[in-house]
Amino acid sequence: MRLFLFVLTSVLSGTSIALDNGLMRTPPMGWLAWERFRCDIDCDNDPKNCISEKLFTDMADRLAEDGWRELGYVYVNIDDCWSSMERDQQGRLQADPKRFPMGIHNLSHYMHARGLKLGIYGDMGSHTCGGYPGTPLDKIELDAQTFADWEVDMFKYDGCYSNASEQEKGYPLMSKALNATGRPIGYSCSWPAYQGGLPPKVNYTQLGEICNLWRNYGDIQDSWGSVLSIVDWFFDNQDVLAPAAGPGRWNDPDMLIVGDFGLSLDQSQTQMSLWAIMAAPLFMSNDLRTISADARRILQNKALIGINQDPLGIQGRRIVKEKSGIEVFFRPLQNNGSALVFFSRRSDMPYRYQTSLKKLNYVTGSYELFNAFTYRTMQVKDATDFVVSVNPSGVVTFLVSAPAKINRRQFYSDGKLQGPAFEDAEENSLPPVFL
Ligand code: GLA
Repeated sequence: MRLFLFVLTSVLSGTSIALDNGLMRTPPMGWLAWERFRCDIDCDNDPKNCISEKLFTDMADRLAEDGWRELGYVYVNIDDCWSSMERDQQGRLQADPKRFPMGIHNLSHYMHARGLKLGIYGDMGSHTCGGYPGTPLDKIELDAQTFADWEVDMFKYDGCYSNASEQEKGYPLMSKALNATGRPIGYSCSWPAYQGGLPPKVNYTQLGEICNLWRNYGDIQDSWGSVLSIVDWFFDNQDVLAPAAGPGRWNDPDMLIVGDFGLSLDQSQTQMSLWAIMAAPLFMSNDLRTISADARRILQNKALIGINQDPLGIQGRRIVKEKSGIEVFFRPLQNNGSALVFFSRRSDMPYRYQTSLKKLNYVTGSYELFNAFTYRTMQVKDATDFVVSVNPSGVVTFLVSAPAKINRRQFYSDGKLQGPAFEDAEENSLPPVFL
């Protein structure tokens, strides 16, 4: 019953309005410079890693040539420290001429020629967080038009050096200004992160109407502690956050740091699995030129990407929190499928956790569990107990097929659930198996 209610409320909430630019019906995927490359502008001494057009064309080449683009990783996003300290003679933002000699417009052509998209960064206050020129209220229309003229595809609007009343005007105004350019530009708002991320200060209904995604919480850092604090905050507040998400409007727990220095392999699998459960935007911030095969395998895992990109766009939740330190996360997927993640907060040894789908509120029936990392499948009846062995700070992640031979009307107990997403779903069909 709990499962039924969860699916029902999630689907119903999916009917409310999203920003009407038709973009990001599934969480956006790509690469974002900030966490890994920060504000390194020392191109004389650190030419490979400084914020310059070379960094973005290098990453674009990797995305296009190493199998990322085909999996959906298409955005190449500039963050802070890209601009010149001065606006041009017409008052427009301009790229630092030394570090971006071809200019942003040519850089967007470079992306488009490779089937990629370009994202750019600005800030609602007098300055960006890194001290570069901001886009305060009186510059919003001009800067939105400049980004459209440069054929940019996404814009992250940060909030340093602005106050609550400016943000209340500025974030909706930028949404209008971007739409008014006529160019579809995905819109990422940092607004809630600057207001503590929770109601009453944050209005998630309004955010869903004006932004495609929004940062709710603090910046991710290259450490397991940082990932864990983000995970804790998002799932502790899931009752507020999950209903806000849906096609075209996503909570953003910040970048993937898989492939950097701070996470073990198990922790990397955990970040990727929980970002998939959360329907989070998947922006990697790593060095794709030197990434390890292990990290790449995790980030390119088709089962996890499939969960993340599920067309229903329902954000998953934590459904079990055991005293033993085991937690279980659940996300409903199309065709009556679902994803389950078993996570261990323990620090001793792999923990053998025994459960059944029935204990996890699944309805009567036979299911197939596909392990997203080992690719093994297991057939279980709802009441069959099974054991998962979960490594310290690691996960076991399953794609769960719909119960075989069960009538959908029965599955939704009274047959009332007839949302459009379910109407064209095939009766009893299994979710795709990714091998
Ligand atoms: C803020 C944002 C980060 C990044 C930096 C850039 O801290 O939250 O994601 O954009 O600014 O200075």
